[in-house]
Amino acid sequence: MALRKLIAGNWKMNAAMAEMDAISRAAAAHGDVDVAVCAPATLISATMRPSIRVGAQDCHWNAYGAHTGCLSVAMLADAGATMVIVGHSERRADNHETSEEVRMKAQAAVAGGLTAIICVGETEAERDAGQAVAVVTTQLAASLPPASTGASTVIAYEPVWAIGTGRTPLAADVAEMHAAVRAELVRLLGPEGTQLRILYGGSVKPSNASELLAIPDVDGALVGGASLKAADFVPIIEAATPAFPSGY
Ligand code: PGA
Repeated sequence: MALRKLIAGNWKMNAAMAEMDAISRAAAAHGDVDVAVCAPATLISATMRPSIRVGAQDCHWNAYGAHTGCLSVAMLADAGATMVIVGHSERRADNHETSEEVRMKAQAAVAGGLTAIICVGETEAERDAGQAVAVVTTQLAASLPPASTGASTVIAYEPVWAIGTGRTPLAADVAEMHAAVRAELVRLLGPEGTQLRILYGGSVKPSNASELLAIPDVDGALVGGASLKAADFVPIIEAATPAFPSGY
């Protein structure tokens, strides 16, 4: 059975508060899709709306301590977050985060009651070398806490070369990767591996959302640039809605 789709915006280090009313109206009107906005931590409480799940973009794995500039899971939950992205490729690259650290963050997030969105993805050089599936499944195995469940954890496959570039993989390549991620989840978690949603991320926009969201095992999208404008984000929510044909 198809999993309920999740469309999650990742605002990164941008603010789009003026778009929130239109986004929340669309989320309320499309109740059979989960809609999330992962905002900068300072905007979490301001972003909260009844129809939307608010997420953070990173967390520390420790509950407290001498970690200047970091935020604990409890702090994010206290601010109103119910989800958190961990292991985004920008953090893996810019902050040299390892998959082991990502696993510790995901574990802390789930223990603290947040849904973890664990990101994985290959670089262009890795894809060109024919290693995309091996790289992503290896990252997944190292980043996923062993007790992960469909209720607690979401996977986001985001090819690094597709993020913010306007380029997306061929539908066949997305299908191959999502099938491989699904198989790896089942290998790691048993039958529960069928219950985790696998989002696609990387240059999702209104013009490609319907095609991407129709691919088997694409259970939603993690949307960067296009989540900053309701005029772009709302059609992506609509494209994920089973009751509305694409182009509605
Ligand atoms: P993009 O970013 O949609 O702007 O490509 C996606 C992401 O990094 O999550």
